Amino acid sequence: MSIKVVDESNGNVSELQLLESTLGRPTVDIKPISSDLGYFTFDPGFVSTASCRSEITYIDGNEGVLLYRGYPIEQLAKQSSFLEVSYLLMNGDLPNSEQKSKFEGEINRHARIHEKLRAFVDGFHYDAHPMSMMVGVVGSLSAFYHSELDMEDPEHRRISAMRMLAKIPTIAAACYRHSVGMPFVYPRADLSFSENFLNMMFSLPSHQFYIEDQHFLDPSAIRALYLLFSLHADHEQNASTSTVRLASSTGANPYACIAAGISALWGPSHGGANEAVLTMLKEIGDVKNIPEFLERAKDKDDPFRLMGFGHRVYKNYDPRATIVRETCHDVLDKLADSDPLFELALELEQRALSDDYFVEKKLYPNVDFYSGVIYKALNIPVDMFTVMFTIARTAGWVSHWMELMSDPSQRIGRPRQLYVGKTKRDYLSLDER
Ligand code: CMC
Repeated sequence: MSIKVVDESNGNVSELQLLESTLGRPTVDIKPISSDLGYFTFDPGFVSTASCRSEITYIDGNEGVLLYRGYPIEQLAKQSSFLEVSYLLMNGDLPNSEQKSKFEGEINRHARIHEKLRAFVDGFHYDAHPMSMMVGVVGSLSAFYHSELDMEDPEHRRISAMRMLAKIPTIAAACYRHSVGMPFVYPRADLSFSENFLNMMFSLPSHQFYIEDQHFLDPSAIRALYLLFSLHADHEQNASTSTVRLASSTGANPYACIAAGISALWGPSHGGANEAVLTMLKEIGDVKNIPEFLERAKDKDDPFRLMGFGHRVYKNYDPRATIVRETCHDVLDKLADSDPLFELALELEQRALSDDYFVEKKLYPNVDFYSGVIYKALNIPVDMFTVMFTIARTAGWVSHWMELMSDPSQRIGRPRQLYVGKTKRDYLSLDER
C-alpha cells in the first residue's frame, strides 16, 4: 500500500509506502519526500512523526490502552512485581520462575556502588535538588565502568543495562539521605528489590527498617509505591526515552545516555509534573481558592496550568491514573484528616473533572496527579518525587537503549529544521554596527 503526494506547483509526484504496524495506525514512510520533491517535513514536538520502529510498548491514547510487550498494564499492575515488569520490557517475555530468581539475584548483586561514587553524592551541598544529584551521579557511572562497553556485544549491553537498573535505586536513596542529612545505607542481598529500596531510604542507624514490622509508613502507601514503579516503567517514545535514544544513536556511553534521559525527565511538563502538583496544591492553599485557580488555568494570558492534568497522548483517560487513583483514594481516606493538602487534592480532582473547559479539552488527571499525592503520604520530600519516577523509568530507558543498539538499521538521529533567521549578509566591522 502507498499514498501519493503531488506537488501542485510542478506536478512532481512522490509515492510513499505505508508501513504496517501490528497495532495502531499505519505509518507513512516520508523519506522519499526529500529525494523526490526536494522538501523537508515540519512537525514540531513530533505530534505526528514516528521516530523509530519499536516492539516494547503500545499506547492507544483515544482508547486509554497501554500494553507492555502486548500485556495490558491493568493485568501487569495486578499480578507482576516491578522486576518482573522490567524483565519483560528488557527481554520481550515474562520470566519463568528460574529466570525470575536469576534476574532478581543479579539485580541484587549489582545494587552496590563504588565507595568513590558515594563521595560524589557527599560532594553536593545539602540543599542541592536531588534530580541535579541524579544527573551528575548517574552520568559519573561512565567514569567508573570501563569494562563491558563493547556495544556490539549483546552480553555487554545486557550487563550495562542491569547495572543501571540495579544501581539507580541505590543512588536515588543516597541522594535522599544526603538531602535530609542521614547516613548512607548499603543495599542488602537478603531483601527484595522494593524492600531493599525502602530499607535504604528509611532505615535509621538506631532502627532497621523491616517491611513486616509495625513501622511509620502506611502499608497502603507502600503498596501504592510498588504499583507506581510498574506503571511508570515505560511509556514508549516520550520525551526522556526519545532523549536517551537520540543520545544513544551517536554511540555515546550508555551511562551518559541515561543521565541525558534523567535531565529530560526533570521538566515539569514530563516527570517533574509530580513535584509541580504538590507545589501547585501549596500555591492554591485552600479549597476556597480552587475556583480562582481553575479560572487561571483556563486563561490563555496566564501561564498557570493545572499540573497533573492533560496528556499529549491520552485524550480519553490515562489508564495508569485509573489504576492508581483507587489506591490513592485508599491512602487519602486514611490520611486526609492529617493534612489539609490531601483534602484539597481530592476536591480539585472533582471540580476539574466536572468543569466544562477540562471536559471539552479532554484534560483528565494523569498518573502524576496521583503519584505526587502518594509520595507525599509516604513523607517523601517533594523534590524527591521525580527521582522516584527515575527509578521506575530506568527499566524503559535501558530497554529502548538495548533495542536501538541491536537494530542494524539505526542511524544517528539528526533532525532537519525550518530556517527562519536572517538571509546571507555581509560582515560589518565594529565601527559600521
Ligand atoms: N491546564 C490547563 N489547560 C491545559 C492543560 C492543563 N494542565 N493541559 C493542556 N491544556 C490546554 C492547552 O492550553 C491547550 O488549549 P488550546 O487548545 O486552547 O490551545 C489544550 O489544552 C491542548 O494542550 P497542549 O498544550 O496542546 O497539549 P500537549 O500535548 O502539547 O501537552 C501536556 C501535554 C502534558 C504537556 C499538558 O497537558 C500539560 O502541560 N499538563 C500539565 C503538566 C503535566 O501534568 N505533565 C505530566 C504528563 S504525564 C507524565 C508523563 O508521561 O511524563
